[in-house]
Amino acid sequence: MTLVIAIDGPAAAGKGTLSRRIAEEYGFHHLDTGLTYRATAKALLDAGLPLDDEGVAEKVAREVELAGLDRSVLSAHSIGEAASKIAVMPAVRRALVEAQRAFSRKEPGTVLDGRDIGTVVCPDAAVKLYVTASPGVRAKRRYDEIVAGGGTADYAAIFEDVKKRDERDMGRADSPLEPAEDAHLLDTSEMSIEAAFQAAKTLIDAALKENI
Ligand code: C5P
Repeated sequence: MTLVIAIDGPAAAGKGTLSRRIAEEYGFHHLDTGLTYRATAKALLDAGLPLDDEGVAEKVAREVELAGLDRSVLSAHSIGEAASKIAVMPAVRRALVEAQRAFSRKEPGTVLDGRDIGTVVCPDAAVKLYVTASPGVRAKRRYDEIVAGGGTADYAAIFEDVKKRDERDMGRADSPLEPAEDAHLLDTSEMSIEAAFQAAKTLIDAALKENI
């Protein structure tokens, strides 16, 4: 049986790093589902197609190839914004969720991270984590990341952006960002990535024992 680990949480909470680390530790396949929304948005932008036509966006979503997703070509701020706009469309979500569910069945196990994995995509996941941190901490992490990469950043603008993205992700009618009832909450505001990983590992090991 495939073991699924579902990791949800708001933007810049550290889900990505944590999910990659977990997938590596257990030898599982990893899918960053945010990239599926970003790839759909980028394809629309590149083709000069509208971001507010659900039928067009659904068609593009159905053509997204999961195998070739690469965050480095999808990381632009404009792509993230466009992604969160098309992510409110039920037909787009249906198309991407189908592909994500197919991925989740890969043997021997999978780690999926996003906003609705534990609630909608994989409600039967063996382990569900809801990774969060305060908006201030998340904005600071994003700021540090940009500066460390040699870029210039405006903390106040990033902070506003984090809050705006939260509102859109938590406020949408279809699959809003919220912890699944059976998710373990992991607040990383005052935790290093290593400490968050160790906390996650303890929870996963306990679930693995139960699933044997
Ligand atoms: O995680 P990332 O910031 O790359 O995701 C981009 C956008 O895609 C999010 O702001 C969210 O609106 C959307 N998304 C989603 N459901 C997911 C993953 C991402 O709605 N499972």
